[in-house]
Amino acid sequence: MKKFYLTTAIDYANGHPHIGHAYEKILADVICRTKRLLGYDVHFLTGLDEHGQKVEQTAKDRGVSPQMLCDSVAKEFIDMCALLHISYDDYIRTTQPRHRVIVRDILQKLFDRGDIYRAEYTGFYSTRVERFLQEKDKVNGIWPESEFGQINEITEINYFFKLNPHKQWLVDYITAHEDFIFPKFRAKQVLEFLKEDINDLCISRPKNRLSWGIELPFDSEYVTYVWFDALINYISAVCFGTEKFSEFWPVDYHVIGKDILVPAHAIYWPIILRALDLPMPKTFLVHGWWLCSGEKMSKSVGNVVDPLDYAKQFGADAFRYFVIREMAVGQDSDFSHELFVSRYNNDLGNDLGNLVSRNNHMLQRYCGGTIP
Ligand code: ME8
Ligand code: MG
Repeated sequence: MKKFYLTTAIDYANGHPHIGHAYEKILADVICRTKRLLGYDVHFLTGLDEHGQKVEQTAKDRGVSPQMLCDSVAKEFIDMCALLHISYDDYIRTTQPRHRVIVRDILQKLFDRGDIYRAEYTGFYSTRVERFLQEKDKVNGIWPESEFGQINEITEINYFFKLNPHKQWLVDYITAHEDFIFPKFRAKQVLEFLKEDINDLCISRPKNRLSWGIELPFDSEYVTYVWFDALINYISAVCFGTEKFSEFWPVDYHVIGKDILVPAHAIYWPIILRALDLPMPKTFLVHGWWLCSGEKMSKSVGNVVDPLDYAKQFGADAFRYFVIREMAVGQDSDFSHELFVSRYNNDLGNDLGNLVSRNNHMLQRYCGGTIP
């Protein structure tokens, strides 16, 4: 049987599941179910991204340990998957030992090869996106607060992963592989980003600033950067380093949202893989965002849609139908109660419901109640 390996993003453990998380899993699930019907041996991976400053901070605010927070959030996300009939084969949590061991092995390997080096760095750090900001992140000369939140200037000794030596290779690779990034207009954005020099990736955080992470194997004063840890889930979950791994890798689809394509998935990840001498993913399937009346959903605006409410009230199938029908893959879509109710009544009730009902009548009348 032909193998088909698909992953979703792993969700941050610092909030509740919302329609964006639900959509991504439903989209992935629809693809996986289709592939299974076509006879593929499917491996569908999803999971939870549990380390990093935001999780540490949220746990502190709630007066619980980070692991306790992650455990309760994991339950919420896994319950959502069950309610939405998500047929995943594996759920990875980045605090699991199977993941931690592989992240540390990879860090050591890259360090031994000289791909990771130690240096002092001064820069502007955004906790919201958990990284040092670059000039090119600026819009009209400033780093927008709406995107980056509060920004602090920090001078620190850290460990860096070399990106620039791979830049030209990456440009050539993306240009030569049309199926690498879907939809195609997203590949153009990545190439645009690669026009300028890219800073090496800071892959460590001193423990006095962040302790909730995987400790660097070569310096116990540091933990690794959450994105470096998170991306590796795609290979740690399928037994990187063992013979089994080659049954799965390269992955067929990485399903992700548009906000995490650049730089994490389209730049850091291919370069990490290349440094490890691994083949590239076949395709990044990049979906758009669910908006509310054209606005980003956010907790502070209070327009976050709870997918569980809809699935509970109208049934999982109706909710799954709505999100897949309403959103053209790759584009943004608006979510509103009116749109939902209108599709529920018109598409499902009147059109599909009517069709099924007429067919049933005719089957009874002309075919003795069985399908000829
Ligand atoms: O980014 N509409 O986690 P996350 C559609 N942990 N999709 C949305 C969305 C929306 N309104 N909001 C978020 C992370 N998403 C990292 C990923 S992967 C190694 C690490 C999508 O919980 C978002 O684009 O913030 C991403 O693909 C997924 O939900 C998880 O987002
Ligand atoms: Mg996010």
